[in-house]
Amino acid sequence: MRTNNKTALVTGGGSGLGEASSLRLAEEGAHVFVTDISGDSAERVVQTIRKSGGSATALPHDVTQESDWQRVHDTIAGACVSLDILVNNAGVVFSGNIEETSLSDWRAVNSVNSEGVFLGMKSCLDLMSKPGGSIINISSIEGIIGDPNLIAYNASKGAVRLMTKSAALHCTQAGYGVRVNSIHPGFIETPMVAAGIAAMGDAAEEFHQNIIAAIPMGHLGQAIDIANAVLFLASDESRYMTGSEMVVDGGYTAR
Ligand SMILES: NC(=O)c1ccc[n+]([C@@H]2O[C@H](COP(=O)([O-])OP(=O)(O)OC[C@H]3O[C@@H](n4cnc5c(N)ncnc54)[C@H](O)[C@@H]3O)[C@@H](O)[C@H]2O)c1
Repeated sequence: MRTNNKTALVTGGGSGLGEASSLRLAEEGAHVFVTDISGDSAERVVQTIRKSGGSATALPHDVTQESDWQRVHDTIAGACVSLDILVNNAGVVFSGNIEETSLSDWRAVNSVNSEGVFLGMKSCLDLMSKPGGSIINISSIEGIIGDPNLIAYNASKGAVRLMTKSAALHCTQAGYGVRVNSIHPGFIETPMVAAGIAAMGDAAEEFHQNIIAAIPMGHLGQAIDIANAVLFLASDESRYMTGSEMVVDGGYTAR
């Protein structure tokens, strides 16, 4: 029970990587606040956790709204002494190069992926266990390397990578004993990736095969591969890690 007696908040916990991370943290003993812009999705994940004997609470939550963060913060503060684990996972993807991406598309992506993580850390820092808290920000390999068709997504995930380091340094300087790290998944089979590939229509199969060919391990990852990384960073096993970037990509960025 690697997260026994710990309390966690996972944003975007109603699907994909957030769902798998919520289930894994609960399986290892954490009480998980599963939040999502889709309250029904969060509720479904909470029911799954409870059926397996775990403990969880669902909350509807749009990470772009400061008022939503305040409500989630106050709910958690009213229910427990402190928050041990914050997983800023909610995210959206948008394909487009510099010429075809509009300012409103740019803002829509960055408001969820970048501002959502900023607001999450800012809103919850006072709740985090001091010492012992762990903040885990889900970036991407697209926060490390560029893609011509992902300008807004690249920018948002690069921002997550560096705001993680800034917050990590602040927390050490302040003597909080709160660790802040980022995870950089490669191509993982989730509804986000499936929808992105399907949207390519006739080009989908070729794109899928090209991705597989570019992954040294020869296959896409599974959500559990990221959930296990989240679990490690959430647990005290990673107690000497802060400001670091954990890449989980089947070797994609090793070339
Ligand atoms: N799947 C991958 O290959 C991959 C790779 C690298 C990074 N990521 C990142 O991992 C995270 C999870 O992605 P996923 O693949 O599980 O996607 P997903 O689409 O399956 O799940 C994302 C969840 O976030 C929620 N969400 C969207 N906007 C929100 C908002 N404004 N407020 C709260 N919740 C919101 C959605 O309702 C959904 O439940 C994202 O940050 C994504 O960028 C995914």
